[in-house]
Amino acid sequence: MAEERFIPKPYTNSVEKGSFTWASPSNIALVKYWGKKEHQIPENPSISFTLSDCKTITKLSFIKKDNNNGFSFDVFLDDEKKDDFKPKIETFFKRIEVYLPFLKNYHFKIETSNTFPHSSGIASSASGMSALALCLMSIEKELVTSDVTLSTSTALSAGTVERSFDEDYFIQKASFLARLGSGSACRSLEGDLIVWGKHKDIDGSSDLFGVKYPFEVHKKFKNYQDTILLVDKGEKQVSSTVGHNLMHGHPFAQERFKQAHSHLSSLINILKEGNLDNFIKIVESEALTLHAMMMTSMPYFILMKPNTLEIINKIWLFREKTGSKVCFTLDAGANVHVLYPENECEQVCEFIKNELVAYCQNGHYISDRIGFGAKLL
Ligand code: DP6
Repeated sequence: MAEERFIPKPYTNSVEKGSFTWASPSNIALVKYWGKKEHQIPENPSISFTLSDCKTITKLSFIKKDNNNGFSFDVFLDDEKKDDFKPKIETFFKRIEVYLPFLKNYHFKIETSNTFPHSSGIASSASGMSALALCLMSIEKELVTSDVTLSTSTALSAGTVERSFDEDYFIQKASFLARLGSGSACRSLEGDLIVWGKHKDIDGSSDLFGVKYPFEVHKKFKNYQDTILLVDKGEKQVSSTVGHNLMHGHPFAQERFKQAHSHLSSLINILKEGNLDNFIKIVESEALTLHAMMMTSMPYFILMKPNTLEIINKIWLFREKTGSKVCFTLDAGANVHVLYPENECEQVCEFIKNELVAYCQNGHYISDRIGFGAKLL
């Protein structure tokens, strides 16, 4: 099984205590992940833009404990103890324990904060789980360093520079672990375009972890902008776990999964040629299909709000009037991500301020852009 390569050999180093801090961004899917099998395996491949400024910063401190009986950790959000976060992290630790056998040997303090407001309706699971997975990998790196140096150097041909730790393995395993925390989190470690899920036209793509999009991308997509309009800052009406489960036995599920494969195939040429008209068609169709799946599941949900529709209609009108290439995408909620090329910044920002902000809760929105992944601080 491919997962087995993420089970480490017995650790050779011993570490008493320490701490690592990682900042990891959110991401926005262009082709959506909606529907999963057991063990966080996606039903279809997805592709996302990594964001730049919407990030979670997580400091993980660890100290050896004198027993190995179970997981021991405390979680803080903005310095406030958050016991209600613990069950999700406990589940995450259970899922990844076989891949990180040191988890029960330490007490952990997880201190986390987001650059976006917690109650903004922006999911922090992608940035949060990827930041935590990276912190855990930094610990593993300390525990295996000498071991991996040996195996890496024997595998390298003469003349290759010896690395102290295989960076590709580090990122790949961190993405693999992040996926087990939250599927979309495996797309947050690197940038600027990440594919997760096996796709026949994308060599190296995998259901187990995200990979960098390997093909040519037209310069029109450089520094692509994402303004997130906060239409509804409330708690999610439907958790993603419940949402994904609604795809089991969904009458249109199989067709939807096929569509995601073909959308991703089409995007390969679109991204290469910089064909923004066709980019818009795929991205907006994906957003509406995601919501269509929710509206046609049993039970059914409408996660868009009236203001979501107002914004979509305004974007369509603006495009018709001006020839702009601005478009929208949606998450599993009411907020709208407004996507546009950098050279349209001025006119689209004016349009957003004059015509769209009125539909945001308390006039709140977040200006972000495509980014390049997580950083060790
Ligand atoms: C609509 O990654 O939040 O944002 O694996 O259950 O944690 P879990 O789900 P999650 O689902 C995200 C779904 C989405 C689309 C996407 O990001 O691809």
